[in-house]
Amino acid sequence: MLPEGPRALLRAATHQAFASVDRGLERGAVGEAFLGTLGMSGWQLGNSSAVLAEEAGLPGVPAARVENACASAGAALRAGLRAVESGARDVVLVAGVEKMNDMPSARRRYWLGVSGDTEWERLAGLTFAGVYALMADRYLTEHGVGPEALAEVAVKAHRNAANNPNAHFQKPITRERALSAPRVADPLGLLDCCPVSDGAAAVVLASEETARRYTDTPVVVTGDGAASDRLALQERESLTSLSATVRAGREAFQRAGRQPADIAFAELHDCFTIAELLALEDLGFAGAGEAAAMTLSGATAIGGRLPVNPDGGLKAKGHPIGATGASQAYEIFLQLRAAAGARQVAGAERALAHNVGGSGASATVTIFERGP
Ligand code: COA
Repeated sequence: MLPEGPRALLRAATHQAFASVDRGLERGAVGEAFLGTLGMSGWQLGNSSAVLAEEAGLPGVPAARVENACASAGAALRAGLRAVESGARDVVLVAGVEKMNDMPSARRRYWLGVSGDTEWERLAGLTFAGVYALMADRYLTEHGVGPEALAEVAVKAHRNAANNPNAHFQKPITRERALSAPRVADPLGLLDCCPVSDGAAAVVLASEETARRYTDTPVVVTGDGAASDRLALQERESLTSLSATVRAGREAFQRAGRQPADIAFAELHDCFTIAELLALEDLGFAGAGEAAAMTLSGATAIGGRLPVNPDGGLKAKGHPIGATGASQAYEIFLQLRAAAGARQVAGAERALAHNVGGSGASATVTIFERGP
């Protein structure tokens, strides 16, 4: 069987998004569409947004591609939110797609490489695993913690993904297996890395008044934030904190009028296990150096104080670059409507999504709440 291309992935994801609208949504109601994609493999690099409009059955609707590397769909979601919030559009479609597998690994490395700093890091041969390994090494040294916390992020992700029929990996792993996996970039092993995934995801946004026409159980975005940072690691102030995440998080909490303790669960950008620990601290869920102990205590497991990535996260659900931000929003939509099946976070009313571009040059944070 031929592998499914980006068109088929987009068709399936947008069909699922429209099918999730309780009272049905006529395509004519959609006023605009935004697509997150890095355009990997070079498929339809120009005008890929027109492909979204075509495959979603929205011919003639204005559509635009938004590109922020791994945070492309997070940024597309933000563009969609602004279109609705401003009153310019009543209903908006936001989707993301990436097809990463049907190309030789050298070409894939090129596509991933162009999302990092191309003047220094790429010339030195640094991969994303290498970049995050530098952060991980610094974190473990600075805070005097062992690699077990990194392994536990992976164990928890694989356990959650085992209950997600859409996940890339659906088999649990043990901590011992994670710790003894082949090294990719020390201290990160194979099981500390997100895989190379194909996928698409989509969500429909509407003004609150319009949403009420289509459902009695809407999910409301109460706040969002975004920020950028210097591209190259050597230009940044810290290796153990992503300042784009810190700033995006503060903006989102402030706009929502909420604080970390109000969040029932989070979808965090765990492209490498260390990234989840940094995000827990950068978003105020844990103090500096405390995310390791928090993770080892089980607090981030389903049933813990702050479940993280109930869908399996980038680590085990998979990370089709440009689709990830939309898939996080879709998981939160399911969870807040108590429709997440075996991986349901009981009674969840409020959640946070965190999407990072590359090694942290951009980030978006969005807060969602169960509708009143
Ligand atoms: N986690 C768990 N298992 C993985 C895996 C991952 N991330 N990647 C591959 N595997 C498994 C495969 O399923 C396969 O298992 P099998 O032998 O039982 O079938 C085995 O490991 C070998 O797979 P292969 O595809 O040959 O691995 P690889 O060595 O080519 O790639 C990585 C492994 C870690 C290098 C690759 O997944 C990678 O580059 N990940 C990071 C992607 C990235 O940088 N994204 C952007 C983030 S900012």
